[in-house]
Amino acid sequence: MNNTVHAFAPGRIEFLGNHLDYNGGTVLGTAINAGIYAVAQMENEPTFHLRSKSFEGSVISGSIEKLEKLSGNQSWGNYCLGVLKVLQDKNLAPTQGFSLTLRTDLPMSAGLSSSAAVELATAQCLLALSKQSLPKEELVNICRQAENEWVGLPCGILDQGTSAFGETNRVVQIDCAKESYSTLPLPLRTSFWIFDTGIKHDLIDSHYGTRNQECKDALTIIQALDGSIECLTQCPVSLLQNIEIPENLKKRAQHVVEEQARVHRFSDGLQNKSLPLELGPLLTASHKSSSLNFENSLPELDFLVEELCKEEKVFGARLTGGGFGGAVLAWTSQDFSQADANLIALEYENEWKHKPNYHSFLPSKGACLLDHSDVKLVN
Ligand code: GLA
Repeated sequence: MNNTVHAFAPGRIEFLGNHLDYNGGTVLGTAINAGIYAVAQMENEPTFHLRSKSFEGSVISGSIEKLEKLSGNQSWGNYCLGVLKVLQDKNLAPTQGFSLTLRTDLPMSAGLSSSAAVELATAQCLLALSKQSLPKEELVNICRQAENEWVGLPCGILDQGTSAFGETNRVVQIDCAKESYSTLPLPLRTSFWIFDTGIKHDLIDSHYGTRNQECKDALTIIQALDGSIECLTQCPVSLLQNIEIPENLKKRAQHVVEEQARVHRFSDGLQNKSLPLELGPLLTASHKSSSLNFENSLPELDFLVEELCKEEKVFGARLTGGGFGGAVLAWTSQDFSQADANLIALEYENEWKHKPNYHSFLPSKGACLLDHSDVKLVN
């Protein structure tokens, strides 16, 4: 059918730069070779139909003229409706009804940002239906706005930006203050493994919003001393050391400031062709700081990082994404095998009485419209 459009948006791995995006920092992420596939077509009625076999509450319908927030097992539809709402407010949405069907090969709730991928896949399809095309930067902002305003998560642009700007074998670097995007080559012969604890990290109900507020509070105190500091990542370590500030805010700020330094060292290292063996410890240091200072880790995640780092083939490991559950990223040599991963999973099972899922991903291309010829979807 010629009025049918198809799109893909990948999940992402947060490589380094934990909770820096909404603090005006620079972050590193990689798009992965798994994501959300979407197909959409116009309908004659002013009605939307959202379908997905991958999510609970698998069919959702309603009027495009009166959007309402969804709850319970239909909550996944909010990522689509949020995008529709932002597009409507910008006069970019289809003026007719439509049906949108999603399919995914991403593990859910594993810290791989299926939500941003749903938003980007939806946005691309709806824009294509209304014969609009936007620069990726704008697509990212529309999807973030949908998540901030409709879904209610005060996230930054790491997830949407990485999913939009991903490239094969490269890491996406985002300067979140300037909203500028670039990519850096990754060393060859390394692999990414994700160990998913299966502990659901529903960021909307978790402490994500609390951490976001604590960072804002820390910034307010810092700015009272030095008005030239525009965002928390710009705070000098020396200032932070000597400032009077509640202990919890000091710890959050310390994480942010030191994490920013790690990101810069990492991306300099990538550009100077440093060895993974030299760069990997920065990931592990990031995790330690999450655990001690940002307090967004869990004993289960700490356990995985500790076990992984005993392995020679592991360069570094850290929680990936918002935290409070979800998954650990291990950056490994290519020799790290399925059998090695299984051993780690067994050790985890011994300790925590359930087995984590594990997956290996390739750094891959970003979100795009698909031709009928390369459609992997959809029924
Ligand atoms: C989640 C959010 C991102 C980012 C990370 C933490 O994935 O959606 O915007 O803040 O947590 O770095």
